[in-house]
Amino acid sequence: MEANPLRHGSLRLHRTPEPCSMIIFGGSGDLTRRKLIPALFRLSQQRMIPAGFTIIGMARSPMSDEQYRSMLRTWIEKETGPLTDSARWDSFAQGIHYLSADYHDPAVYSGLKSSLSNTEAARKTAGNRIYYLATAPGDYDGIIRNLGQSGMGIEHAEGKGWVRIIVEKPFGRDLNSARALNNVVSSVFREEQVYRIDHYLGKETVQNILVFRFANGMFEPLWNRQFIEQVQITAAEDIGVGTRGPYYEQSGALRDMVQNHIMQLLALVAMEPPPDFSPDAVRSEKAKVLHSIRPFSTEDVRRYSVRAQYVQGRISGKEVPGYLSEKGVAPDSKTETFAAVRFNIDNWRWANVPFYIRTGKNLPKRVTEIAIVFQRTPHFIFRNAPSTHVESNVLVFRIQPDEGINLKIIAKMPGQSMEMRPVNMDFRYGSTFGFHLADAYERLLLDCMSGDPTLFDRIDSVEAAWTLIQPFLEVWHNDALSRLPQYASGSWGPAEADALLAQDNHAWRLL
Ligand code: BG6
Repeated sequence: MEANPLRHGSLRLHRTPEPCSMIIFGGSGDLTRRKLIPALFRLSQQRMIPAGFTIIGMARSPMSDEQYRSMLRTWIEKETGPLTDSARWDSFAQGIHYLSADYHDPAVYSGLKSSLSNTEAARKTAGNRIYYLATAPGDYDGIIRNLGQSGMGIEHAEGKGWVRIIVEKPFGRDLNSARALNNVVSSVFREEQVYRIDHYLGKETVQNILVFRFANGMFEPLWNRQFIEQVQITAAEDIGVGTRGPYYEQSGALRDMVQNHIMQLLALVAMEPPPDFSPDAVRSEKAKVLHSIRPFSTEDVRRYSVRAQYVQGRISGKEVPGYLSEKGVAPDSKTETFAAVRFNIDNWRWANVPFYIRTGKNLPKRVTEIAIVFQRTPHFIFRNAPSTHVESNVLVFRIQPDEGINLKIIAKMPGQSMEMRPVNMDFRYGSTFGFHLADAYERLLLDCMSGDPTLFDRIDSVEAAWTLIQPFLEVWHNDALSRLPQYASGSWGPAEADALLAQDNHAWRLL
């Protein structure tokens, strides 16, 4: 490959964490298959996981260690293609074990304890443990209580190595259940042992929002109501709910994407500069800005939000079914697959700047972006130009795909007249740095092993986000519509979403 000078500069500082074990509850589940195991193996290929690293997968079906290893190998090959480096696989596989268990049975935890003490001695992991809750969310409570009762929480941490727990989203399904879950968590673990994962925070492009804002001198002075007219956050997916119908029925777009991923993106764009990049400094600023978002009254929910459900349509030329025909979905389901909301942040920086967010399944393409739309020039001097309509400057963080940053500026077209049009200044990760971006889980798993919680949610942010979302859950539940607004699969959502912005004389960006 051609030498890329930026590549040299960007060699990551290798942080090899201390030896540890990871106990995966839900060891044969979808998340473990698609994300956790491929990410752990890629870290192992890059020599980034510690020597002796051990995985104990736990799930209900009976299986031997050997059968589990071979299942994991198949999963990895499905994600990354055939394994050519068999020595690397052999060394990774040596650390993999399986325990068939019903998490609700307290007796299982003594089996886990003895398995752990065997592997910890054999693989010299010094009693350092990460428990990963990758099960159905309904199991979290029972698992955590059982860990506590078996003395595997804080108590274990006293003098026998460290203990951390990773809790997958959703953390609760509303404000009360999030608080109740947190009470259980904090009866067994201290806050610094708890890693609430939101995989969006592990995406390179999401981390780059902070670098862009706080490592460049020229943008921050413009980052406020004086210069910014509106912010639009879009998280569009070109797939439906697929096999996740039963989960999605309990969730919907608001709980699945808005309460977590989108509120985190909004917080990173809108937060004040923290004094440094330490975990609590960053997380305190995020919580602070979430607390500054204007709460919604019932009337506000009706006026400033839209929900809808996809019906049959075409995406990339292919016919796709409507939500109500998906497997595991009730024929009269009122679950929203699209949500759009206008938020306002009541602080000095953002007063009167609308933050529009939208997310949906079965939209025309997969794109996640944050667009910062600047105010127009106060006075337009080119009165005799052929076009008197000059667009705003827009700065776009392209989170995925085609990751990068794009700035739309207005330029003069070559020629005798003063014709002008928007052009793009474009930074692309792919061509600039010349390597494949790591999956978010790689970064986050390594951070947890290294004891760095900066990119994990603290309980105050989780609660602040649920507090904001709660009125939607209630009003949408009480406003029992006979049918939700609909949108054809492959369209950009319902007409109501356009009307939401039209109230402010704004329009969604065409993507
Ligand atoms: C998950 C949601 O948290 O994020 C899914 O449960 C969604 O419904 C996914 O598809 C999107 O993640 P990504 O990384 O593909 O944008």
